[in-house]
Amino acid sequence: MKTMRIGLLAVLALGSLGSQRLQAEVSYFREIRPIIQRNCQGCHQPAMKYGGLDLTRYESFSAGGNKGPAYKVDAPKESLVLAYLKGERQPRMPLGSPPLADDQIELFRSWIASGAKDDTPPEARESSALDKPPVYHQAPVITALAYSPDGSQLAVSGYREVLLHRADGSALVARLVGLSDRIQSLEFSNDGKTLVAAGGTPARFGEIQLWDVASHKLKHSVTLTDETLFGASLSPDGSRVAVGCADNTVRVVDTAAGKEALKISNHENWVLGTVFGVNGKRLVSVGRDQAAKLTDATSGAFIENINALRGELAAVARHPTRDLILIGGAERIPYLYMMDRPASMKIADDSTLVRKFEMQDGAIFALAFSPDGSRIAVAGASDEVPIYQTETGERVATCKGHRGTYAVVFSPDGAHLSTGGFDGRVRTYEVTSCKSERDFVPVPLEPQLASAR
Ligand code: HEC
Repeated sequence: MKTMRIGLLAVLALGSLGSQRLQAEVSYFREIRPIIQRNCQGCHQPAMKYGGLDLTRYESFSAGGNKGPAYKVDAPKESLVLAYLKGERQPRMPLGSPPLADDQIELFRSWIASGAKDDTPPEARESSALDKPPVYHQAPVITALAYSPDGSQLAVSGYREVLLHRADGSALVARLVGLSDRIQSLEFSNDGKTLVAAGGTPARFGEIQLWDVASHKLKHSVTLTDETLFGASLSPDGSRVAVGCADNTVRVVDTAAGKEALKISNHENWVLGTVFGVNGKRLVSVGRDQAAKLTDATSGAFIENINALRGELAAVARHPTRDLILIGGAERIPYLYMMDRPASMKIADDSTLVRKFEMQDGAIFALAFSPDGSRIAVAGASDEVPIYQTETGERVATCKGHRGTYAVVFSPDGAHLSTGGFDGRVRTYEVTSCKSERDFVPVPLEPQLASAR
């Protein structure tokens, strides 16, 4: 922003000669594309082409949408995209969000006036093609996993896509290609109809994708903030998604409308995890400020800190049927807290702590409750993923294989535990023994070309 404003001032100061020269310097790749990624691509991408317009690539931007080319190099003022950005044509773009700043619209005008050139580097050209699934030469780190409620499918995070597998590992069912380079969290709605994928492209935009599970079609892509989103969670009735943001906020998005409904600013650092209470009226969020904060999920009003501060928190999970909250992070110890403080207890003591589990060998990245709440699984930088009894804190099994685990989930019948992590493999274990049942690479790997230049 700052450099841009200085640029405009320089244009004024240098007069017409200078402005000609500086106008030519607006870069599609460095200046226009980031604005489009943050504000437009949610509704203008191959998986969702409103107005018939795909803004993810230069070529499709030039080609335009239903109404024809998006801009006219020889008559910049008549460009459709400028008319939509300025509100001369309705509905004003970006639809449903505040208009772009005047200096951002000026960048579009100036870029078009100077010939609307494409300066996308060749290596970025291939990676910006969203109409085809990505090609892999090695398995990407797995950051998120989710079982469908009927247990038949397992969703796995890939690079710029979600891979839907049969849960028994027998087939890849679908590849859900979206805008976000990274998917940080995955969750199916309780009715199994919607898959929520949240993530983003670092230093560009955060995104919540809502996929229709039956048709594999994207229902909504909601872009939020300038950074990847973390720890998304659905309300029990599926009407809202909460997500942690790098601007220290929690955002709550209405799933039917695909729109932000609430912005909560209680945290003092990045928010990495969220979970709703059993009745969906309250929300717990955790983050780098070490706090687990309880918030009214309707008003966004802060209620209280659940925990005593002991280190950055990366993960939160709720007991399936009770308002018990499991948290963990840099301190390597999983803590189980009551979400509600009985009236007799004082604020700011640690009397709502139910149980402290064993210290892990490394930072905690992910936590899970078994579907009946009787067990918990703890995953992170340690080589082990231990399973504990919730009631006693006793370790009952230890699953091994990964070196660094970012995702851990129990199957809906409680019989299996699946993990994913640094080595890009999905592992499934029998829960009582941690005996390995399956171990596979979820992405199709291209054979390395022997004659590669
Ligand atoms: C929330 C969804 C949404 C977002 C975000 C959005 N658009 Fe649109 N856009 C639409 C819809 C819907 C239409 C079709 C409007 C109509 O024809 O009535 C449209 C139409 C357009 C058109 C006309 C296409 C044609 O040929 O008919 C342009 C140009 C456009 N948008 C540009 C943008 C730009 C640039 C941004 C970002 C600054 C943006 N849009 C963000 C939903 C969106």
